[in-house]
Amino acid sequence: MKNKILSILLSSKDYVSGQALAEELGVSRQAVWKGVNALKESGYEIASTPNKGYKLVSPPDFLNAEAIKNELKTELIGREIIVLDSVDSTNDYLKELGNNGCREGVVVTTREQKKGKGRMGRVWQSKRDENLAFSFLLRPKMAPGGVAAITPLAGLAVCRALRETTGLDCRIKWPNDIIVGKKKIVGILTEMAAEFDAVEYIITGIGVNIDQAVFPEEIEYKATSILLETGRHYDKNRLLAKILTCLEKELLSNNLRLSQTALEEYSDLCATIGKGITFTRGSRKINGMAVGVAENGELKVMLSDGSICSVYSGEVTVQGIY
Ligand code: BTN
Repeated sequence: MKNKILSILLSSKDYVSGQALAEELGVSRQAVWKGVNALKESGYEIASTPNKGYKLVSPPDFLNAEAIKNELKTELIGREIIVLDSVDSTNDYLKELGNNGCREGVVVTTREQKKGKGRMGRVWQSKRDENLAFSFLLRPKMAPGGVAAITPLAGLAVCRALRETTGLDCRIKWPNDIIVGKKKIVGILTEMAAEFDAVEYIITGIGVNIDQAVFPEEIEYKATSILLETGRHYDKNRLLAKILTCLEKELLSNNLRLSQTALEEYSDLCATIGKGITFTRGSRKINGMAVGVAENGELKVMLSDGSICSVYSGEVTVQGIY
């Protein structure tokens, strides 16, 4: 009932009378009143004026499943959306669902993430209602070695979504940080459960800094948010729907692989290519010049003797970035 009322109010710029809603939905005016109240409780601001009816004033400014679904243009990613009030980590929560056999496409997001996980065992901090923290689960029918393209494709999709929505010059720091200028605005952590020759599920967790205005001192020099870069607040539900829509398009149209087109687009947006970098191999730190990205997502690096080597994971410091 709630959703049906919402879609009528969304499609009407003016007031809709309780009578008209009741007739269109084939229910009593009492049922309409209850549905409107349920929407208000979910955070929708709805004006109710005697003799005029109901009018949607503004959507909720916190994460809300209906508001996300309302904007979503996907078939697979987000066919089930779970919005939590608070959780330790959306990746870990989804892992539990994955172990219990949930279908692919499930998205978990939360208003507050208390123990967010970053890459290389780091912590990912995100304050309540300030940022986006979400994870989605896929069950690709492939061997574990085949999934390497998912993270760069996800990076490409998020980078695109943010560029189109905010106009910011977002770029990718290999393998999958999204940066604006010299600072990080998005982090991506992909985790997998697999047997020797087959993937069981893959979970990609994404954190987007949206309204955070202050960062802890130790990361202040390398972290930023959409608010800090644009001075504007963006609707988190709409932005999440846009990101999920771009993710599905990017992942499915490329068949979960770094196709030639995807590779070219990734390289065009990659801030690492053409820069001096330092990477670690065992306990050694090696300097080189990033010259490209290979089909399997590895970074191609030219060393001081002119030879080319591949860097496939770990920490990479890019000159002039971080
Ligand atoms: C990184 O850059 O280090 C990766 C950060 C990934 C953070 C996201 S937030 C949603 C999901 N849940 C987690 O616990 N981590 C990822």
